[in-house]
Order: sequence, then C-alpha cells, then structure tokens
Amino acid sequence: MADAVSVVEHPLVENALVALRSVGTGTDEFRRHARLLTLILAFHVLRDLPTRQVRVETPLEETEGHVIDRSVIFVPVLRAGLAMLDAMSDFVPGSKVGFVGLERDEKTAIAHSYYQKLPAQLENAETIILDPMLATGGSAIATADLLKESRASRIRLACIVAAPEGIAALRAKHPDVRIFTAAIDDSLNERKFIVPGLGDFGDRYFGTT
Ligand code: PRP
Ligand code: URA
Repeated sequence: MADAVSVVEHPLVENALVALRSVGTGTDEFRRHARLLTLILAFHVLRDLPTRQVRVETPLEETEGHVIDRSVIFVPVLRAGLAMLDAMSDFVPGSKVGFVGLERDEKTAIAHSYYQKLPAQLENAETIILDPMLATGGSAIATADLLKESRASRIRLACIVAAPEGIAALRAKHPDVRIFTAAIDDSLNERKFIVPGLGDFGDRYFGTT
C-alpha cells in the first residue's frame, strides 16, 4: 500500500527550504524557491499516476511512449496554494483546476471558507490539494470535506511544511488522503504557527507583510 505520509528528501529540496525559511529572503527569491521546490515535489506527488501506451512519430520513425491516463484536478487553497499551481500543472497537460478560498482567523486559527469553484466530475479524477502549510490541519480537512461532498474519491495533499499536529488531525479525519511534504517540523506555537516553519507563507509569497 502507498505511504500515507511521504517526505520528499533531496538536496535541492533542502536548499530551497533553507531559502524559504530564512527571514532574510525577500519576495522575489521566496517565489523562485517556492517554484523550484514545487517542481521537485511534483515528481513525487505524481509518480504513480496510471499511464497508457501511445504511438508517436519522431522526425525519424514511429515509436511508442506513455501518457498519463487519468484526469487530474489541482485544487489550490487560496491564497498560498496558488504558489504551487503553475509548477505542478505544467507537468500535466489538460489538467483542470478548482479553487477553495479559506482564511484562518488570526486569533482562533480556525479557517473560514469564502470561495469555492470546483470542476465537474471529480469522482474519477486524481484530485490534488495544493497548500504549502499544514498547521492545525483545519484548512486541509475543510478542503477534503468539500471535495468529498463533490464526490472526489482520490485525494492527495501536496504541501511544503507540515506540523505533526496537522498530519495527525488530517489522518484522523481523512485517513485515505495521501500527504506529500518537503518537511515535517517540530510543532505549533501558541499562535498555531508552525515552528521552526517559515512564517506566514501567503504574506511572504505575495509581499503582503
Ligand atoms: C495558511 C496556509 C494554509 C493554512 C494552514 O493560510 O496557507 O491554508 O494557513 O493552517 P491550518 O492547517 O491551521 O488550517 P491562511 O489562512 O494564512 O491564508 P492565506 O493563504 O490567504 O495567507
Ligand atoms: N499558515 C502559515 O502560512 N504559516 C504557518 O506557520 C501556519 C499557517
């Protein structure tokens, strides 16, 4: 059976993580490293998608190859999940995109929903939630709830930094959702931020600090 939680280990991921964590990294560099890290993450998140054989004509002769044989739907959780969308979807021609808008209350850390637009026919698709931070797990659980209400059955979460608390909460509520992350950090602080973490991903990526 596939691992429930996969931590992507690679020197290039470590490099990018240091840049993202560093308080001295400005917006442009933060965006660049978020993209590089997501490209590597994509290899792992999409590794076991089914393929089918096709014929292809090279300039020299006809040969055979394989293409992805499943509908893929990316679901970035607004805002921060948008940071991962281009890098992931570049690998999957014909993929569809759904949007879920969630924002954590600064005091309670409870996420409230403000937007939702999902494609039709989620039931046979591979649905990949994009959200760089898995902290309490509230946002990921709410997104998986929404997707299942729309009949999604194959759900993965791609994130960059996860807290043990968020992993445990998501596993408890949605044990079928496979989690892919670049790092599992120590814990959450009293404000429910991941420590050591990288701060507020959305603010750093969009320059709203
Ligand atoms: C952040 C992050 C996740 C969520 C994780 O979003 O991008 O969506 O917090 O925290 P949780 O696991 O405790 O729910 P935020 O609410 O800050 O909104 P933003 O992406 O618009 O900045
Ligand atoms: N959201 C973030 O952007 N960072 C955290 O540490 C927790 C939630």
